[in-house]
Amino acid sequence: MELIIKPTERCNFKCTFCSSTSIADDVSDELGLEHIYTFLRRFPDTHTIIVNGGDPLMMKPSYYTKLLAHLDEHDYPTTVAFTTNLWPFYMKPEKWLDIFLHPRIGITTSFHYGDSRLKGDYSVFSEEDFWAVSDKMLELVGYRPGFISVIDEVNADKALDNVRLAKKMGVECKLNYTMASGIAGRPYQLSKMYSIYLDVYEAGLTEWEFNTKQMVERLRNESMMCPQNRACDSTIRALQPSGDYYSCGAMGDDREYAIDFEREMAGEFFTPLQHDPDIQTMRSDGECYSCPMFQICNGCKKTVKDTRRHNMVETHCTLMKQLAPRIIDANNG
Ligand SMILES: C[S@@+](CC[C@H](N)C(=O)[O-])C[C@H]1O[C@@H](n2cnc3c(N)ncnc32)[C@H](O)[C@@H]1O
Ligand code: SF4
Ligand code: SF4
Repeated sequence: MELIIKPTERCNFKCTFCSSTSIADDVSDELGLEHIYTFLRRFPDTHTIIVNGGDPLMMKPSYYTKLLAHLDEHDYPTTVAFTTNLWPFYMKPEKWLDIFLHPRIGITTSFHYGDSRLKGDYSVFSEEDFWAVSDKMLELVGYRPGFISVIDEVNADKALDNVRLAKKMGVECKLNYTMASGIAGRPYQLSKMYSIYLDVYEAGLTEWEFNTKQMVERLRNESMMCPQNRACDSTIRALQPSGDYYSCGAMGDDREYAIDFEREMAGEFFTPLQHDPDIQTMRSDGECYSCPMFQICNGCKKTVKDTRRHNMVETHCTLMKQLAPRIIDANNG
């Protein structure tokens, strides 16, 4: 199992595209550690806890010290992967250093060009800021973190610059399409995102971008990684600040398709995304099932949901069929 925890909705940044602005009953709610401990008793083979939010660094360090002590005490095989904007670490590294240096901990961060990623004072989180944070991580923790870039209509023309920056930093980035949750209005069309992955591939930048690597693998065998694992609800769980429980972090952002925590902890097992006919395929006419792009278009149920709800299926499908020969070539290449 992979467990995503969102300990708090609170965040020090003001990103205009944020998917996670309504994930709790009350903004002050914090996920109790007992929920995580109960989950680990039920699924002791949990290999990763991804810490998301809100921002993980809005919690007190003692929250994570206790969690790490619990993992050590029970000898769980679990690593803990933070996704954080790292700004609180940059401002006060001594507060976080012991936790960041713990052998179970890994850090990923977020950056993209454009003016949608905003600090607490609403100024843009600039490339200069990002280098300063990355340098601090290298100096004190020993490595530069990889990063996630969120792509939308406005910043898409700079998408490859993010990958060139990753190359310069010697890290891997992940170009993710904007999902329609929280204050993000519309999703970024999946096929437009694939057009960008093809550009990354054809520019020889695949090594520095996670999803392009996945694209090259995808048609060959069914990938097990989010966001293209059609059986993700058998292997992923998410716990949110108010204790609600999902099979997907992104569905949790919408607070839809929740799972009954008590019943699953008592021994039942739920796969809430496998059965709803509305989220199985982009098209409702059955055409997807015989299309060579099936796995790419319909891998992620949250993406299917967003694309359908925003009436973007036809435009998505038309472009995806145009791109198909290039994607198939990349798979054979
Ligand atoms: C919700 S944030 C929480 C972690 C942390 N505050 C950060 O910004 O890295 C987790 C990741 O989701 C990304 N993200 C935010 N809104 C998104 C959206 N609408 N669609 C896709 N990814 C999004 C963020 O950029 C970040 O990389
Ligand atoms: S529905 Fe999509 S975003 Fe959610 S876990 Fe599955 S692949 Fe990932
Ligand atoms: S290209 Fe169109 S028909 Fe083919 S899988 Fe994608 S949405 Fe379905």
